[in-house]
Amino acid sequence: MRAGLPAVDMHFAVKACPVPEVISALAAAGASFDVASMGEVLLCLANGATPNRMSFGNVVKSAQDIRMAYALGISLFAADAEEELSKIACNAPGASVYIRMLIGDTEAEWPLSDKSGCTPAMALHLFDKGRALGLRMRGISFHVGSQTRNPDMWIGALDQASSLWKRALSQGHQLDLLNIGGGFPARYGRPITEITPYCERLCALLSERFDPMPKLIAEPGRGLVADAGLIVAEVLLVSRKDEADEHRWVFLNIGKFSGLAETMEEAIRYSILTTKDGAPTGPCVLAGPSCDSADVLYQKNMIDLPLTLAAGDRVLIEETGAYTASYSSVGFNGFPPLKKVIV
Ligand SMILES: Cc1ncc(COP(=O)(O)O)c(C=O)c1O
Repeated sequence: MRAGLPAVDMHFAVKACPVPEVISALAAAGASFDVASMGEVLLCLANGATPNRMSFGNVVKSAQDIRMAYALGISLFAADAEEELSKIACNAPGASVYIRMLIGDTEAEWPLSDKSGCTPAMALHLFDKGRALGLRMRGISFHVGSQTRNPDMWIGALDQASSLWKRALSQGHQLDLLNIGGGFPARYGRPITEITPYCERLCALLSERFDPMPKLIAEPGRGLVADAGLIVAEVLLVSRKDEADEHRWVFLNIGKFSGLAETMEEAIRYSILTTKDGAPTGPCVLAGPSCDSADVLYQKNMIDLPLTLAAGDRVLIEETGAYTASYSSVGFNGFPPLKKVIV
């Protein structure tokens, strides 16, 4: 990433893998951190990150979290609403702020929808408002959508960002910070543009739109840690709903509530290895162990698994280092949260 985007300050999106060993390895490698809550602030501080290398990127923060983070030395916050600016001005007076903008249609496999961000007109209003409140309005941020497989899929978002940037400058706002968020893809068993050429293309797209280039931040999550994790799971049951059914149901000891939340809408498609690989395969619905009917991983697009697969067989779910362990429920149906082993 650094080779392709040398001028970009990398703020690891801690939410993707809030694990002490990962934070301390990245801190030692000189990374900065995008945090979403005081919990993540404390995790980073305990593992070698310094407050001047953290940005508080969640646009929904409690007044108390803002106050505590500011008191600890964090001075860069995201906002997308007037009330949030007032909270920041009150609890972190004079802090630096970037406004998160909404990105419309996205080609990302895990789109971040319209929950965070505001329209360009609202962003311009917030720049005025923040300035009036004594905040340092530094720039804008956006998120192109998670798992954006191809750098050219950023073009729409970058166009929107540069158009807002120019409008803000023309209205007298002295912006100097562009936060391009996350979105860098993992492989998930399919061919993708390798990360360095991906970032080089992104760098070129940025240069075409921003001159002079502002200070740049990126917040990679998935693209940085997905391939650092592997889930070891077990088949609990292989069944058919009718003897005439061609497809089988394969139930694992892990499901949507115990680490595989991103299979929602079958958005993220993990590669699965089994101890029976090499044997003839057939289509399967893949499901988790809980009694909840939402706990089905792949059904619309079934997965081909060995015909000999049986209860007790081990399966490996690849590239599961991002958004897994921290996404697992505590004891739903009595299943424990995903256990982490650091190698
Ligand atoms: C504010 C923010 N930054 C960065 C990320 C990381 O995104 P990704 O994992 O797609 O790189 C997220 C993910 O939700 C986010 O909410």
